[in-house]
Amino acid sequence: MTNNALMPALARADFPPGFIWGTSTSSYQIEGARHEDGRVDSIWDTFSARPGRVRDGSSGTVACDHYHRWPGDLDIARGLGTNAYRFSIAWPRIFGDGAAPNTKGLDFYDRLVDGMLERGLQPWPTLYHWDLPQALQDRGGWMARDIVHRFAQYVDVVTRRLGDRVPQWITHNEPWCTAMHGHMDGMHAPGIRDVASALQASHHVLLSHGLAVPVIRANVPGARVGAALSLHPIRPASESPEDRAAAHRHDGLRNRWFLDPLFGKGYPADVLDAVRDAAPRIEAGDLEAIAAPTDFTGLNYYFPEVIAAAPGEGPLHARVVHREGVERTAFGWEVAPGGMAQLLHRIHAEYGPKAIYVTENGSCYDDAVIDGQVHDAQRTSYLVRHLAALKHTLDEGVPVAGYFAWSLLDNFEWAEGYTRRFGLTHVDFATQQRILKDSGKWYRQFLGGGEAVSKSPQA
Ligand code: FCB
Repeated sequence: MTNNALMPALARADFPPGFIWGTSTSSYQIEGARHEDGRVDSIWDTFSARPGRVRDGSSGTVACDHYHRWPGDLDIARGLGTNAYRFSIAWPRIFGDGAAPNTKGLDFYDRLVDGMLERGLQPWPTLYHWDLPQALQDRGGWMARDIVHRFAQYVDVVTRRLGDRVPQWITHNEPWCTAMHGHMDGMHAPGIRDVASALQASHHVLLSHGLAVPVIRANVPGARVGAALSLHPIRPASESPEDRAAAHRHDGLRNRWFLDPLFGKGYPADVLDAVRDAAPRIEAGDLEAIAAPTDFTGLNYYFPEVIAAAPGEGPLHARVVHREGVERTAFGWEVAPGGMAQLLHRIHAEYGPKAIYVTENGSCYDDAVIDGQVHDAQRTSYLVRHLAALKHTLDEGVPVAGYFAWSLLDNFEWAEGYTRRFGLTHVDFATQQRILKDSGKWYRQFLGGGEAVSKSPQA
């Protein structure tokens, strides 16, 4: 049980009226229905079938079976009292290999969006959350420049279909992960390990974002567009000039490599310097396209990093130091709500987007179902402390306009398979039974949502 005495007192009314409260998911992680209604394979179908790539040998073939169970899942989101829901659209449901768009795939998202609107949930679609059609990977994927036009075409089709009901659009989820986990350390699909490929991929992801922005604006009256970035506060392991320089380089690739070009500052010179020959090919006009003005920045915040100089290690000669004695989730990620506040301040001060949304934040713990309940006190505590940090940041004048908890449901956690649970709702992957965890009940109580809100303090 959570010790309520240690929890900061917090109420929805402490946040501005109109604040967006949501939960977040992504297509490959929850939908399943791999072969249904004309869906083609994505790079994650291919990658997860390769032995040793996903910890438990699993895949998103069934996942949470959300493709069939979405009405119930949206009921859970409504029951929490959220007013928004962030999800992603699966490119392989919309386009296979560049032929005509797949009507049945579009129909699915049409129904899903209507289902959200019926339940008072603002739809927050992400256009790319890592499930690239395998057919496009076979032509070079994010490493090949042609992908940026394919993306713009896909975005055109989707926003024409849904834009009459959906003003807010997130182009990309975490370009760092697409580029670096996908092409540098190979931990994610397509599993490539090559610095130059990773940096070229990052440039194409950013360029595809920039080219998508005017497409969305043309199709969607009053569109509000942004990208969701995974950012990390970076600290040097010591005050030595070497560690400080290494931390700065690491910050360069983790954070500035994406923020700087999106805000018209081009790629950071120190990173270009460090990566030398591996620098991406950039054509005339690319940087201007990437810097297309947006309406908000999405922050996916999980953990800070401590960096030490490590000559010869990676392109940046830097490594992450594992600090002892700090609080961590079951994933090993450091719990540091102050890090989120720090990033929000930094984004505001150094880049000044019109609005910032926390598009993901959440924690993974080894949950147990006991008598039909999940007493995930640590996740509740994580959530409360991050919301307290958020409120503090708002009070200090940072224009944060919404918060999406990752995740509505336990789901397929990429290379970790089903071994990492992030949901506010527990999913039994054998029976597909959903159980709202204590953390979900806390969020529901905080938001004043849903039926049957207990009068006594939850959790
Ligand atoms: C983020 C991803 C999301 C989920 C969380 C835990 O990096 O965007 O899909 O896996 O981590």
